[in-house]
Amino acid sequence: MILKPDTIINKHIGHIITKIEENGFKIVGLKLIRMSRKDAEKFYEVHKERPFYNDLCNYMSSGPVIVGVLEAENAVQKWRDLIGATDPKEAKEGTIRKLYATNKEANAVHGSDSVENAKKEISYFFSERELSSD
Ligand code: CMP
Repeated sequence: MILKPDTIINKHIGHIITKIEENGFKIVGLKLIRMSRKDAEKFYEVHKERPFYNDLCNYMSSGPVIVGVLEAENAVQKWRDLIGATDPKEAKEGTIRKLYATNKEANAVHGSDSVENAKKEISYFFSERELSSD
């Protein structure tokens, strides 16, 4: 997962970490980083043909973000359910994006869309020694 720049600016880090803990995820990796424009381009490479790609890369490298690794049964789907739809206007009541997102781009958090992509994204940001799942 990533807590995006709007979460840091709006001081929602604590609220979202509380949600993560209350919903039974184990945090096995967590750190604050500043993505370069190149980091963001590579991270969102799958979206490079989309009209929002350029703005999204600018946005994600505009300030610090918090990257994290969450462990749970069926974690990818469980996290997607908790964060809600990409556009906060369409997100269900009580979801993180409904509660804390600003708009479709500055939507508070990122979640991997599959287990395969989660593995790639984890290795993009974390080394073995930064993860503790025991
Ligand atoms: P995320 O879960 O990080 O995955 C891709 C991101 O692209 C998404 O959240 C949004 O921040 C952004 N995004 C997706 N669709 C749009 C859109 N139509 N306009 C702007 N940003 C978008």
